[in-house]
Amino acid sequence: MSAFSSSPRSSWSNRWAYIMVTVGSSVGLGNIWRFPYMTGSQGGSAFVLVYLVCVLLVGIPVLMAETLIGRRGRGNPVSSMLNVSEESGRSPWWAALGWTGMIGALLILSYYSVVSGWIVNYVWKFLTGFTVLSVGEAKSGFEDLLADPLSLAFCHSVFVALTIAVVARGVVSGIERANRVLMPALFLILILLAVWGGVTGDIAGAAHFMFDFSPEKLTGDVILSALGHAFFSLSLGMGAIMAYGSYLRRETSIFTTSLWVVAAGVLVGLFAGLAIFALTFGFGIQPTEGAGLILKTLPLTFAHMPGGRIFGLFFFLLVLFAAWTSAISLLEPFVSWLTERMGWRRPLSAWVSGAFSWAVGLLVCLSFNRWENARVFGKNFFEILEFSTSCIAMPLTGLAIAVFVGWRMREAFVREEIALSPKVFALWYGVLRYFVPLAIGIVFVRESGFLGW
Ligand code: PFF
Repeated sequence: MSAFSSSPRSSWSNRWAYIMVTVGSSVGLGNIWRFPYMTGSQGGSAFVLVYLVCVLLVGIPVLMAETLIGRRGRGNPVSSMLNVSEESGRSPWWAALGWTGMIGALLILSYYSVVSGWIVNYVWKFLTGFTVLSVGEAKSGFEDLLADPLSLAFCHSVFVALTIAVVARGVVSGIERANRVLMPALFLILILLAVWGGVTGDIAGAAHFMFDFSPEKLTGDVILSALGHAFFSLSLGMGAIMAYGSYLRRETSIFTTSLWVVAAGVLVGLFAGLAIFALTFGFGIQPTEGAGLILKTLPLTFAHMPGGRIFGLFFFLLVLFAAWTSAISLLEPFVSWLTERMGWRRPLSAWVSGAFSWAVGLLVCLSFNRWENARVFGKNFFEILEFSTSCIAMPLTGLAIAVFVGWRMREAFVREEIALSPKVFALWYGVLRYFVPLAIGIVFVRESGFLGW
């Protein structure tokens, strides 16, 4: 038994509730918006294959390690790291991982809510009868939005306020209830969309693009992006899983719940990818459209679908919901630190943390228009934030988590939390100790050009 488990702390009502909120955190824009656009701009099948390998061999072990720290540490990301490292007689400096995670999460939230604001805008458009009849109209519908900083900032603000409102109410009452019904509805609507893509679009082209592996497309950039996306889509390395794991009951299996979470995320991504590419190819749109890919392809699809206005409205509402549940998990780590460590009330903590992400998000809104040309290494502010958080901070924090749980925590404690048969435990532990640090390390050394590879 961990020394911290006696502290009073609310818990998810049951295992299913935990799976739902964690799926809520992991399934979001990452799977529906980011996975198709990254696949499209990073060589299709090469990206998909490396992503799947990374999820399996790096994502699952790190997800389990992060959940374990949260549950054993029973606190916000900083205090969980402190508790767990102290219990194993390790340096309190390991708590720095809690800090980088919490701050990284607020930075991700700043652009995540701008992109979610695009979805807010499309919900509004569909409510008010928006329809597009040609590829040109679909593209300009999105580009006009990007060119308008006020609309971007307004929609971004609405989304941040929605996120704060739930986190301010508290983790079990606010977050859990919202997840239960709408997550399954999202699955259903994605399946319907994939079927529609199969009937009306170019599903063979989509399957070929996503699954026919062509080794010449496998570049260092593709590998780094796929690794980063595995972390992004599973919400790893940012304290979110630690924060949620800290409300997890002791009798729940970390292994089984992690498999559920990963399966849900991967399936949503693959369904979304197949649907979007079938439709994209069907309309003759290029898969390399970038961040606006789904917002260019889908309105055109809904315009040609019987009942498409209603379907489109439901679709965007559910995507918005998925984004919302992920955003909640990005805000929760810092809020739990402010309430537990600083003694602030939850609503105040939620508003202050949310205000930080909101303010950074305003700069992100400007990076699509007024500051479009302010670039560093060819990237605008949005792209810099996205790249540095998902491709750098997340995998590096994941690496440190693997090293901590694999090499610094006492094995007996790790065993107690993971509670698997000796063989499965040995397999997971071995992958976490050797494979994960090595794989992430090699990708980084190679990408940094060190050794001249
Ligand atoms: N996993 C979320 C998505 O795919 O949309 C994004 C995310 C949530 C990343 C929470 C990181 C995090 F801590």
